Amino acid sequence: MDLKLILVITILQNVLVEQILEQGKRVTVAMGTNRDLTPACIRKVVPPSSPSEEMGSYWGYKVRYASNLSGVINDSPYKEGYDHIIGTSEHGETIISSELILPSFRHLLIAFGGLAGLEESIEEDPNLNGKGANDVFASYFNTCPNQGSRTIRTEEALLISLQYFQDPIRRAGISN
Ligand SMILES: *[C@@H]1O[C@H](CO)[C@@H](O)[C@H](O)[C@H]1NC(C)=O
Repeated sequence: MDLKLILVITILQNVLVEQILEQGKRVTVAMGTNRDLTPACIRKVVPPSSPSEEMGSYWGYKVRYASNLSGVINDSPYKEGYDHIIGTSEHGETIISSELILPSFRHLLIAFGGLAGLEESIEEDPNLNGKGANDVFASYFNTCPNQGSRTIRTEEALLISLQYFQDPIRRAGISN
């Protein structure tokens, strides 16, 4: 569950693989320990899940489109769904990260709002009619107190919040 930064080294050479690939398709190639990049050394295309399954390495993220907040919550790629859902908001509770206790979970969802916040995402969603942030989220946190600007860009909020949640998530652990 650690956040890892992977240094991507671009090999400016072609690598020979053992199968015919569709043009433009992105694949994961197992490079092994052999540094020989000549066509004499044929590499294997492996499932994109293999770096994380076999080495516990972070191998990027997947993107899922949802046209509303309930779609984000309900159309989980995990058949068991999300078992803990957190909202982030400047109107959320302010707790120091080191004092934050999260329950253990299998699939955690952390939601970020747009310019007008998650409150607007709830209001605009007909499936969440009449609900408030406390009905939709198990907890609602302000991960950047005294933000000093009217809004925080989502790409900035993401990094701030992932740092905020990193330790509480590690402490919570994975439930069975
Ligand atoms: C909500 O989003 C889901 C997933 O994108 C979609 O299937 C559904 O039609 C949307 N509902 C409304 C009322 O927009």
